[in-house]
Amino acid sequence: SNLPKVNENPRSHASIISIIIILAGAIALIIGFGISGRHSITVTTLTSAGNIGEDGILSCTFEPDIKLSDIVIQWLKEGVIGLVHEFKEGKDELSEQDETFRGRTAVFADQVIVGNASLRLKNVRLTDAGTYKCYIITSKGKGNANLEYKTGAFSMPQVNVDYNASSETLRCEAPRWFPQPTVVWASQVDQGANFSEVSNTSFELNSENVTMKVVSVLYNATINNTYSCMIENDIAKATGDIKVTGAFLHAFYMDLLGKE
Ligand SMILES: *[C@@H]1O[C@H](CO)[C@@H](O)[C@H](O)[C@H]1NC(C)=O
Ligand SMILES: *[C@@H]1O[C@H](CO)[C@@H](O)[C@H](O)[C@H]1NC(C)=O
Ligand SMILES: *[C@@H]1O[C@H](CO)[C@@H](O)[C@H](O)[C@H]1NC(C)=O
Ligand SMILES: *[C@@H]1O[C@H](CO)[C@@H](O)[C@H](O)[C@H]1NC(C)=O
Ligand SMILES: *[C@@H]1O[C@H](CO)[C@@H](O)[C@H](O)[C@H]1NC(C)=O
Ligand SMILES: *[C@@H]1O[C@H](CO)[C@@H](O)[C@H](O)[C@H]1NC(C)=O
Ligand SMILES: *[C@@H]1O[C@H](CO)[C@@H](O)[C@H](O)[C@H]1NC(C)=O
Repeated sequence: SNLPKVNENPRSHASIISIIIILAGAIALIIGFGISGRHSITVTTLTSAGNIGEDGILSCTFEPDIKLSDIVIQWLKEGVIGLVHEFKEGKDELSEQDETFRGRTAVFADQVIVGNASLRLKNVRLTDAGTYKCYIITSKGKGNANLEYKTGAFSMPQVNVDYNASSETLRCEAPRWFPQPTVVWASQVDQGANFSEVSNTSFELNSENVTMKVVSVLYNATINNTYSCMIENDIAKATGDIKVTGAFLHAFYMDLLGKE
C-alpha cells in the first residue's frame, strides 16, 4: 500500500535499452545470414584409440549454432561408400548409412546444440581403424576435420607378489592386449636400472584369437622398494605399481609358514 514507486523511471529506461539490444541483435542476425554459406566454420577432432569389444568415442566439436534444425552432422570413413552416421533436423538420418555401422553409432543428441558432434561407436572392431571425416553444416557455414582412429586392445595391469615362487617374485598380469605390447619393469630405488635379465614376459592368445593375456614376472625383488610394470604398444600405455614393504614380505613368509 505504501510502497515507493522509485522504480518506474528506470523500468521504462530498461525497456528502451532492451528494444535497442533486440534490434541490434536482429541486424547482426540479418548480416550473419547474408554472409552464411560463404563462411567456413571451425571443426576440431581429437585422436583416440578404440578398445575392441568395448564402446568408443570419435571426438569432434564445432562452433555452435543457436538453431538445432540448421545443424547437419555427417561422419564419413575413407574407403566406405555409405555414411558412418548422419544427424540432421534434430535427429538421426540413417537411410544412407553403411551396413558395417548399422546399429552401432550414435551422436549425443542433447550435446549437438553446444557444438559436440562426437560419435559413439558400439562394440569396436579391429576393422573400424582408419581415417574418418567429421563434416558439419550450420547456418554460419560448413567445415570438416579428419580423425585417424586406431583400434586394438589394452587393459590395466595388476601387480602382485607371486606366492608360489621360491624367491621374491612379482607377477604383472593384464588380460587383453593387441597388438603384442612390450613390457618394461622399473624400480623407484634403482632408477634407470634395466630389469630385462631378471624378468620374463609371456603372451597367451585369448579364446577369440586376437587379443592376448600378458604375464610378466620379475625375480629377486627387494624390500622397501616400489616397482612398476609398464605395458605399451602403438595405441596405448598402462602402468601397474606395487610397493614392497617389510610388512608385505613378512605377510609373504607368514603365508608360507601357514601352508605347512
Ligand atoms: C560430447 O558429449 C559426450 C556426452 O556428454 C561427452 O562424453 C563428450 O566428452 C563430449 N565431447 C566433447 C568433445 O565435449
Ligand atoms: C599359485 O599356485 C596355485 C596352485 O597351483 C595356482 O592356482 C595359482 O594361480 C598360483 N598363483 C600364481 C600367482 O601363480
Ligand atoms: C636392457 O638390456 C637388454 C639386453 O640385456 C637390451 O636389449 C635392452 O635394450 C635394454 N633396455 C634398455 C631400456 O636399455
Ligand atoms: C636371484 O637371486 C639369486 C640369489 O642371489 C640368484 O642365484 C638368482 O640367479 C637370481 N635370479 C635371477 C633371475 O637373477
Ligand atoms: C620364461 O617363461 C617361459 C614360459 O613360462 C619359459 O619357458 C622360459 O624358460 C622362461 N625364461 C626364463 C629366462 O626364465
Ligand atoms: C581360435 O583358433 C583355434 C586354433 O586355430 C580354433 O580352433 C578356434 O576355433 C579359434 N577360435 C575362434 C573364436 O576363432
Ligand atoms: C625398510 O624400511 C623400514 C622403515 O623405513 C626399516 O626399518 C627397515 O630396516 C627397512 N628394510 C630394509 C631391508 O631395508
